[in-house]
Amino acid sequence: MQTHVFQTAQQIAKAAATLIAAQLLRKPDSVLGLATGSTPIPTYQALIAMHQSGMLDFSRATSFNLDEYVGISPDHVCSYHRYMQDNLFSHINMSPDRIHIPDGNAADVAASAKAYDAAILSAGGIDLQLLGIGHNGHIGFNEPGHEFVYGCHQVQLSETTIKANQRFFDSAQDVPRFAVSLGIGSIMQSRQVLLLATGEDKAEAVRMALEGDVSPQWQASILRTHPDVIFLLDKGAASRLTHW
Ligand code: GLP
Repeated sequence: MQTHVFQTAQQIAKAAATLIAAQLLRKPDSVLGLATGSTPIPTYQALIAMHQSGMLDFSRATSFNLDEYVGISPDHVCSYHRYMQDNLFSHINMSPDRIHIPDGNAADVAASAKAYDAAILSAGGIDLQLLGIGHNGHIGFNEPGHEFVYGCHQVQLSETTIKANQRFFDSAQDVPRFAVSLGIGSIMQSRQVLLLATGEDKAEAVRMALEGDVSPQWQASILRTHPDVIFLLDKGAASRLTHW
């Protein structure tokens, strides 16, 4: 496991985009695991700039997103489908048939989640998984609990998450209560994991992930048992670590 602490979020974005670019240059048909939230946006902007400058080609890459809300349409302004279109896909040359995002409107969520895991396996597994982290230590939408759930599944969002994500919606009432998330098993099976965290409000989650017990109460803590994980943090997010 490696931890790098940077001065600014912009430096994290450049470092993360460089690692993703290196992955694609080494293996143009890489399978990327992609994340949403505010944290990866500067990284996506850096990737778009690399693509627009002619340095980075996404045409042979495949992507699987981590999660999607249940019960809002893919073109809803707060859906993760829309987020990915707006913040990345509409600016790069990834082939639409290689883009995968969990279906939050499936008639049979369990069957659709199972098919999502199967699609990841048949694509050869995720080469590089990009992650943010929730204030409560969640990765994807794997909320604190008594177990690590292996496969893609429907989750009930915690009050902390509803509150945190309320900023994207008109009100807390409008935040969906459920989501579909990649499980911890698929995240852990990724060949490399890149976790980004910025801001002091993430300091406790980062401390529990890196220095607390490995526990489903802080889901990101399991990443410490992954053979190839890199944490890219800014000073605020690293501020409660006793060593780094
Ligand atoms: C959401 C997403 C996570 C993300 C987290 C943090 O709940 N499901 O994948 O890591 O929020 O988001 P932000 O980067 O906006 O703090």
